[in-house]
Amino acid sequence: MKKDWTTKLIHSDSQVPEGFSSLVSPLYRGSTVLFPQAAAANDHWNQHEVGYTYGLYGTPTTLELAAKVCELEKGFRTFITPGGQGAIALIHFALLKAGDHVLLPESIYGPNRMLANGVLRRFGVEASYYPPLAGREIETVFRANTRVVWCESPGSITMEVQDVPAIAEVAHRHGAIVALDNTWSSGIYFDAFAHGVDVTMQALTKYIGGHSDLLLGSVTAPDAAMYERLGATCQLLGCAASPDDCSLALRGMKTLAVRLKTVERSAYAVAQFLQERSEVEAVLHPALPSCPGHEIWKRDFTGSSGLFSFVFHQRVTREQVQAFVDALKLFKIGYSWGGVTSLAMAYDFHSPKRPSYGSRIVRLYVGLEDVDDLKTDISQALQSLIS
Ligand SMILES: Cc1ncc(COP(=O)(O)O)c(C=O)c1O
Repeated sequence: MKKDWTTKLIHSDSQVPEGFSSLVSPLYRGSTVLFPQAAAANDHWNQHEVGYTYGLYGTPTTLELAAKVCELEKGFRTFITPGGQGAIALIHFALLKAGDHVLLPESIYGPNRMLANGVLRRFGVEASYYPPLAGREIETVFRANTRVVWCESPGSITMEVQDVPAIAEVAHRHGAIVALDNTWSSGIYFDAFAHGVDVTMQALTKYIGGHSDLLLGSVTAPDAAMYERLGATCQLLGCAASPDDCSLALRGMKTLAVRLKTVERSAYAVAQFLQERSEVEAVLHPALPSCPGHEIWKRDFTGSSGLFSFVFHQRVTREQVQAFVDALKLFKIGYSWGGVTSLAMAYDFHSPKRPSYGSRIVRLYVGLEDVDDLKTDISQALQSLIS
């Protein structure tokens, strides 16, 4: 058929050589998926079952990332979401309905709490909170309509390591599902499904991305039944993840092992260094006995990561804590972690439900810089407490 040049822009007859073979996974973008004939058109979300139908449900790039995260978490299948918070929302919306009750630890990631307190309550779901160090005692706060129990171990900022198997045992007896935010361990250092968890999520934004340049999340199901429960909601919430970001995450994954090992070693060294400082009251690093739940970390985890907190002595004021953070040169001030750059953030907790660290708590993320340089940076910033 003869074609005008404007048609050729869209329906080209140009050729490229075949047979390209490289170490890099191809990047597949696309919203429209083509069907071979009219009768084959289909818009089911489960691309594993019916083949590719629509870019919203994943291109081969999205599904490659999902499959690799799933392999590491030893799950059945994984959904990729536009961010970690999107993964949290997917779990809530897929597993809860009006009249249900959800339990969350006091140490849960802040926006997860805000979603439960705000949107979920508006939709008729009750939310209440339990002390993160509760094991079997969590039974006392169960209600007849408790359907989902969240865990996040260690907890955000205050770092309590949870007795997930004990919580799961109680939850299962009450017919409730255990959901875990497994971002801290990157799905590697805590084998969630072997410890009784029913569904996991991670912010891939952190370690899997690894370079502070993308936002993605994952939700992993251990079996076909949970996968089906999540899938329909995932479709209707429009959880589209950019294949470009997935491609970056696939690249990040290749260096995950060396990055995780380095940040584990360096963060532990920085934590030990802080433990010796007279200005510091406690170091909340799961691999140190001063961290609440340390014994559980020893029992259930196979490693630690780059994120921990420490608490200044009572005599240190809020202004001094902020001056310390401001005086750091290598540690930058910013949210989100898991990249190559070390970060520091001062927090202010005045809830009666959390340990009374007040404004003396600082969270550090240790990146890939030389660990002696990081210690020197902290030492010079601690000088600001004296001057
Ligand atoms: C423990 C935890 N879960 C979830 C999230 C949310 O991830 P995202 O920033 O990709 O939405 C974060 C982000 O800080 C986090 O720290």
